[in-house]
Amino acid sequence: MRFIENNKVFKLDSKDTSYIIAIVDEEQFVGHVYFGKKIVDENVNYLLRIDESPYVPSKNNRDRVSFYDSFPMEYSTHGIGDFRESSLQVRDSKGHTACKLQYVSHEIFKGKKKLQGLPGTFGDENECTTLEITCLDKDLNLEVVLVYTTFENLDVITRSVRVKNCAKDSITLTKVLSTCIDFDGVNYDMVSLHGSWARERHISRKKIGYGRQAVSSIRGESSHQDNPFIALLDNNATDESGNVYGFNFVYSGNFFTQIEGCQFDTTRVVMGINPEDFEWVLQEGEEFIAPEVVMVYSNKGIGKMTRTFHDLYRNNLIRGEFKDKKRPILINNWEATYFDFNTEKLLSIAKEASKLGIEMLVMDDGWFGKRNSDNSSLGDWIVNEEKIQGGLKNLVDEVNKLGMEFGIWFEPEMISPNSDLFRAHPDWCIHIEGREPALCREQYVLDLSRKEVVDYIYESVKKVLSSANITYVKWDMNRQLTDLGSIALSPERQGELFHRYMLAVYEMMDRLTTDFPHILLENCSGGGARFDPGMLYYSPQIWCSDDTDAIERLKIQEGTAMVYPLSTIGAHVSDCPNHTVGRTTPFETRGHVALAGTFGYELDVTRIPEEDRDMIPTQIEMYHKYNDLIRRGDYYRIENFSENHGFDAWTVVSKDKNEVLVTCVQVLGRPNYHSRRIKLKGLVEDKMYKIEESDEIISGGALMYAGINVSLYGDYSSKIIYLTAV
Ligand code: DGJ
Repeated sequence: MRFIENNKVFKLDSKDTSYIIAIVDEEQFVGHVYFGKKIVDENVNYLLRIDESPYVPSKNNRDRVSFYDSFPMEYSTHGIGDFRESSLQVRDSKGHTACKLQYVSHEIFKGKKKLQGLPGTFGDENECTTLEITCLDKDLNLEVVLVYTTFENLDVITRSVRVKNCAKDSITLTKVLSTCIDFDGVNYDMVSLHGSWARERHISRKKIGYGRQAVSSIRGESSHQDNPFIALLDNNATDESGNVYGFNFVYSGNFFTQIEGCQFDTTRVVMGINPEDFEWVLQEGEEFIAPEVVMVYSNKGIGKMTRTFHDLYRNNLIRGEFKDKKRPILINNWEATYFDFNTEKLLSIAKEASKLGIEMLVMDDGWFGKRNSDNSSLGDWIVNEEKIQGGLKNLVDEVNKLGMEFGIWFEPEMISPNSDLFRAHPDWCIHIEGREPALCREQYVLDLSRKEVVDYIYESVKKVLSSANITYVKWDMNRQLTDLGSIALSPERQGELFHRYMLAVYEMMDRLTTDFPHILLENCSGGGARFDPGMLYYSPQIWCSDDTDAIERLKIQEGTAMVYPLSTIGAHVSDCPNHTVGRTTPFETRGHVALAGTFGYELDVTRIPEEDRDMIPTQIEMYHKYNDLIRRGDYYRIENFSENHGFDAWTVVSKDKNEVLVTCVQVLGRPNYHSRRIKLKGLVEDKMYKIEESDEIISGGALMYAGINVSLYGDYSSKIIYLTAV
């Protein structure tokens, strides 16, 4: 990364990527020159087309607006003439909304600063370099710092923004996005991850053209419906070829991202906090920090983008003891018992599970207050000793005696109207005074913009965690935010509530992971409504979906794995007929699919068919044998299940290319066909690989270009194939 003084150019190079910014004209506009495959040139400013009409304002001031409306501004602002999507909008003390940024100074340094109060990628001085460009709106005296970090050994550039009010009067920020890039051309495709509860992150690919195509959430969570990820790609890009630009927002609340095909055949991509219901008041000297966007460039298709995200997140986002640790195989009692359990029931599950090699019991929802259904007690984090007879410590000790660890469920952000907490503090929930807030799963959301609420809840969670040998927490969040209002915020600050809420969630997670560093935190949000990089910063794994059906999981996990590493994908073997879709799949297939995630069980092991139970020790052996490879290896989609729906295959290849695990799943059996041929990926052509099952030895070249035959018989059948280099 360097500043080339002569041309007033910033050149940000990482492994195979260049990103170029230039300062142009006497007015020092900061323009976006190039983002793509690495190039050596120091001056490619011709790409800005400022020698064409309308030229720059110093040469043609009468057409200043035309300049603003066509120039690729690094950070677009509202109200002065750029009518494409703006990134920054304000309301000053007189009610005006325009803003114009000009370069003032810059700084380049090794490493990366932490974004205060926010999750973000990190890296030391050998891994990354940061550029901060300070710009100013002279009339508003508003300082905007554009922050870029390049990760030298990955095709990654991150961006965030700091906005500081240097004026005497307060100013209200009404929109602060985190990234903005103008690309040449309009012939692109867009990939995004869409869904709903029980079918999160299905892959969607579409051709885009002129006009605006947005993906967003206004639910107070990143959401089941839309993930804070988009990719812009050549419309002929495949898994292996073509230019792909991936954008992922390191934030778990409302987001907005958009691709806009513009009048002069350019395409603008923006991403940041959703401006809907967002405002932030800055008094003199105060600063707002916008969360980070991770931008990944791949010159070799979607697959390389995926593996870059995986490497970055495993090394430079996930923290703590479990960053690269094999996770204990857990059994969770949710689908086994729902709310109907007690000490005896839990211990009977633990006893049987421990004999089979399962390593941890997780007690899910229903252990506290008077909670025997989902209609009460959230906020009353006191053990219900009518169910947990003998108390929590006794239960945990008994589980520990079986050689198992113990984990517990919380939903710290919520309050039930039917709870002692609500009866004592009816104003502690997010609500608009005089309007009854809407229920969702018969619960309200706590007003976490209030410190006393955060402190009370955190201390009650902490008390439970300190009372016994608990080594895992499932942090759930089961409803969206509505009826936005806080009695603690003044009328002009009500628009801050959504973001203040997120900052408080992050603060609580920070406290929890600091106070209990040995606890494995698994995030969850009614399944996978907060599967985002913001959460991964605190919790190395996230419950992927409440849909545990092996076939539904193929789509869900394929979409999730497009961005997020397999080591983060919470996946369990559950009972059949599946509780969500009523489908019965072989126990073996359920095991193979869960293996492509954290792996665990969610069933009553004392009541499942004996032949299923007998398979558990083999599955556990399989987990221990392959988990290092799955956690650390490179993931390749072999089949595009989201498109073909009938057959799925993927592989994980170790970094040294010596170990390969292939998983294949057939949805429906096919009559009168030959075996299927699949072509492996990511191997070394002239290495010889031995297939464990048959002892056959085949070259990497043959495996990749000629392929192997896979025979599967029966509906929902599956197979894993393990190869090692010889
Ligand atoms: C939603 C989660 O996704 C489930 O796994 C379970 O924990 C329930 N909440 C409990 O209420």
